[in-house]
Amino acid sequence: MNVPSHIAIIMDGNGRWARRRALPRIMGHKAGIDSVKNIVKACIKFKIEHLTLYAFSTENWLRSRKEVKGLFRLLGSFLDNEIRLFHDNGVRLRIIGDRGRLDAMIRQKIEDTEKETAGYETLNLNIALSYGSRQEILNAVRQLSREVKKGRIRPDEIDEKIFAEYLYTKGSPDPDLLIRTSGEMRVSNFLLWQISYSEIYVTSKFWPDFREPDLKKAIEEYGKRERRFGG
Ligand code: IPE
Ligand code: IPE
Ligand code: MG
Repeated sequence: MNVPSHIAIIMDGNGRWARRRALPRIMGHKAGIDSVKNIVKACIKFKIEHLTLYAFSTENWLRSRKEVKGLFRLLGSFLDNEIRLFHDNGVRLRIIGDRGRLDAMIRQKIEDTEKETAGYETLNLNIALSYGSRQEILNAVRQLSREVKKGRIRPDEIDEKIFAEYLYTKGSPDPDLLIRTSGEMRVSNFLLWQISYSEIYVTSKFWPDFREPDLKKAIEEYGKRERRFGG
């Protein structure tokens, strides 16, 4: 069977999961972290090489201060609590997104965890944080323009391979499988360049209910797809 080497997930539906239970939204995010831990372990078990999780979009900054603060607090404890799991299983963590908008403490924690896990290669775990794909592309265009202006590269030399080097995801292959939970049929500014030929799988389950058996089902469904890449 065809196993995806890179799975990307839009983890959606924490708020609705909480609302169903008459709980505050933050409790949905807390339950969502349990799914993150479960899915990371499942990816190790299924020998997935790259996992990219959409945790916080540039647009999510529009949410209430309280929710944003709560989300970042949960993320901080996730990094503190899971460092052992990363060491024990060879998980390399990378955060992709606009770090400039994160507060200094969380930024430091991210840098420390990235440094500590930089030598691992069993599972590459990318977490998209303050991430927006259009901003990522614009950022690449700006950097490349500077290189052109300095005469380090000619405009005609810029091809897909070189362009991808300027994205936050440099060094990672494109996702083979894109999963979105909670039934929404949209990409919400996630990896627009990178998902050109990804297989898409949408489940109606809310993210806090998405666990190893659900991932297995998505991988099995992927295994049945015929990827043609336009050929
Ligand atoms: C996904 O759940 C988590 C983030 C976007 C941070 P939501 O918070 O979007 O949950 P819903 O979509 O309101 O149910
Ligand atoms: C996408 O979910 C972003 C993340 C999962 C982090 P949203 O809930 O923000 O997306 P929309 O608003 O439904 O498009
Ligand atoms: Mg949502």
